[in-house]
Amino acid sequence: PRRHSTVLRREAVRAAVPVAVAALLAAGPATAGTIGSAGAGDPYFPLSGNGGYHVRHYGLTLRYDTASRHLDGTAVLTARALQRLTRFDLDLKGLEVTGLTVDNAAAGHRRNGQELLVTPRRALRQGQEFRVTVTYRGTPRPVTDPDGSADGWSPTDDGAFVAGEPQGAMTWFPANSHPGDKSSYDVTITVPQGRTAVANGVLLGQHTAHGRTTFRWRQTEPMAACLATATVGKFDVERYTTRDGIQVYNAVDPREAKAAAPVLKKLPSVLEWESGLFGPYPFRAAGSIVDRAPDIGYALETQTRPVYASAPSLSTLVHESAHQWFGDSVSLSTWKDIWLNEGFATYAEWLYSEQHGGASAQKAFDALYARPVSDGLWEFPPGDPGTGANIFGTPVYDRGAMVLHELRKAVGDPAFFRILRAWAAEHHNAHGTTAQFTHLAERVSGKNLQSLFRIWLYERGKPNRA
Ligand code: ARG
Ligand code: ZN
Repeated sequence: PRRHSTVLRREAVRAAVPVAVAALLAAGPATAGTIGSAGAGDPYFPLSGNGGYHVRHYGLTLRYDTASRHLDGTAVLTARALQRLTRFDLDLKGLEVTGLTVDNAAAGHRRNGQELLVTPRRALRQGQEFRVTVTYRGTPRPVTDPDGSADGWSPTDDGAFVAGEPQGAMTWFPANSHPGDKSSYDVTITVPQGRTAVANGVLLGQHTAHGRTTFRWRQTEPMAACLATATVGKFDVERYTTRDGIQVYNAVDPREAKAAAPVLKKLPSVLEWESGLFGPYPFRAAGSIVDRAPDIGYALETQTRPVYASAPSLSTLVHESAHQWFGDSVSLSTWKDIWLNEGFATYAEWLYSEQHGGASAQKAFDALYARPVSDGLWEFPPGDPGTGANIFGTPVYDRGAMVLHELRKAVGDPAFFRILRAWAAEHHNAHGTTAQFTHLAERVSGKNLQSLFRIWLYERGKPNRA
């Protein structure tokens, strides 16, 4: 498609739009006249997200039949047009659309790969709030990411493991699927009696009738689509409220219960310890979903309630919990900045070890630094992974944590921990970029850190420490 440049009339959208969305639109792919672009302008995932509007809220009503693996869904999106729109896209992969309205009027729609193209009966004005209702059904299947991993709605032997980073949200609901756009969520999900459906946030209620149970979940704080879950299985459920008033909901596959119990018991103390380091926990709800999903093999920091494909280690629990601040509350504006999520969560693991009688962060750093130049750790720099296939690579996690350790040594512990807290506070339930982080580090420490970040974030190969 042809691309024209568009001048965003920022003043008109300023109040309603997260800064990152406006920035993406301003910097990202041009929107051709009044047609919302097919992507949010992210070079790693060009079709993820869409241009021209912001979704304020998703209301999802789902019914999943675990035997047939059939999903019926209704998605009601409350959105705001950031420009005049005669047409806009949603991301949706697979699934059949059986109805689509915009402001209760039937709207034109067609499919093109993962894009669902919507033509409202009447053009939307810039700044206009509108409501899109999509009814859909089918057998959701995960997408394969550039690194070969499965992402999205992944059936298990007793339900589904649902984790959508980076692009799997579109496998189970029509979404503006880029972390640059965050929204509140209401998820109502009906499953066969005996199964439990676990989404993000607070459980408003559940009821069973005619052999089915309906769970109503509410995620109030803004959330990126990739961090939404609606994981279904046979789970043991545990609920309590922490001393800080956080509502905890743990759902555990009984086959994983024995291995998970000693780790999950530590969740409140891990969250308290992290709050001490990073500032107040950003959400009103917390918890864990421990599934048995052998085909997945990774965990995800689904907002408020991480999902684990098997019983996690304590280190993994610390990692996914740290993501609640770094990755969930403070979201990426572009996937290139993924070290802001993974480097920080990995460094939290090092700090946890250091402060709980284990190896020091320095020791973890030294062990990594000892690796030969041929090691995968040095394959690409963490600040510039280069492609979506690298976003979960070792350099992003481990060298990303090494960046923070170098920073800590350069500025000293008091300034370093002030920087972490300021980062979490200043971008609380919003977005942050690498440039904003490096500026903040310089501002808080009063030091020139340009060469440190240039070397550790961006220099190819193994940095020379001399
Ligand atoms: N952010 C997750 C973690 O490190 C990893 C997600 C991996 N996703 C994937 N599609 N491979 O906690
Ligand atoms: Zn992580």
